[in-house]
Amino acid sequence: MLVLGIETSCDETGVAVYDGTAGGLLAHAVHSQVAMHEAYGGVVPELASRDHLQRALPVLDEALRRAGCTLGDVDGLSVTRGPGLVGALLVGVQIAKSLSAALRLPLVGVNHLEGHLLAVLLEESAPAPPWLGLVVSGGHTSLYEVRALGRYRALGHTLDDAAGEAFDKVAKLLGLPYPGGAQIDRLARGGDPRAVDFPRALAKRPRDEFDFSFSGLKTALLQHLRQRGGVPQGQELSDLCASFQEAVVDVIADRLRAGLRLFRERFDNPTALVAAGGVAANEAIRKVLHRIAFEVGTVLVAPPAELCTDNGAMIAVAGAHRLARGERASADLAADPGWRL
Ligand code: KG4
Ligand code: ZN
Repeated sequence: MLVLGIETSCDETGVAVYDGTAGGLLAHAVHSQVAMHEAYGGVVPELASRDHLQRALPVLDEALRRAGCTLGDVDGLSVTRGPGLVGALLVGVQIAKSLSAALRLPLVGVNHLEGHLLAVLLEESAPAPPWLGLVVSGGHTSLYEVRALGRYRALGHTLDDAAGEAFDKVAKLLGLPYPGGAQIDRLARGGDPRAVDFPRALAKRPRDEFDFSFSGLKTALLQHLRQRGGVPQGQELSDLCASFQEAVVDVIADRLRAGLRLFRERFDNPTALVAAGGVAANEAIRKVLHRIAFEVGTVLVAPPAELCTDNGAMIAVAGAHRLARGERASADLAADPGWRL
């Protein structure tokens, strides 16, 4: 069963062809809008929707070409229905519905976060649930128990900024280009993480609460810049980046350890700690995730960077499982920008 996956929830237009029977990705293609949004220092929703409209069909053609097949070979369709930018989501949803009607193909609408959580199934060493999944991207910071495919329990979400958003906003304050996460990661490598003592949000909270918060950290960094009268350069800039990053890492590590404790009480050891989203590419975050997995005798599994960020392959794999279970979207499938998993 060949499943075509379509992703247009934010600033990447992604299409993939996934073989649901053999369980393998045939091909995927992504167009990133990062360069277009760079001048504005963030994603401009209206520009994002228009660009998806222009790119979606060429990206679809490219994915089919790379997979060596045509639309006639496709057996099912999967599209991101939410969460995301409404205008951006609508482009993918309308294309998927049109293809479904014209080609008489079954269609499912998939939650973008389910896609991130299941991207790991594209790996050869894919774990079988139950696992603990962390999604850390520019738009999301969420921790999930993945009990079985299709059965998720949200443990916590960010209450304000997503981790990647915090990286990007801080990078902007430091005069670094958008998106700044990778720049901070690079600068932090030569810095002292103990140079500046930034707050760790929600450090004291009930043991069964797993929410995240990053906006106070950004404000603390802004105050630090004001006090010292501007943005430092050289070693001091590296120290500042390392100190900020360490605070993000600590908050994520704390919630993960607490989540793992709960997980082990309820199930057993997780088969894996699964991380996805653009921020999972961060070196310091990967290091601490490996350490935490090791502490509890499990392993960290994360998709390669190109499948950690938004793509059609993760939507195809999530949709393939839903289609195989007989799930079908009705003809009035609509985008749901605030859809919670
Ligand atoms: O998953 P993604 O490509 O897009 C969505 O938000 O869905 O994630 C992009 C985010 C951006 O905020 C970017 O700054 C951040 O991931 N990012 C990083 C790193 N690489 C990308 N943040 C920290 N360290 C990195 N190495
Ligand atoms: Zn995403």
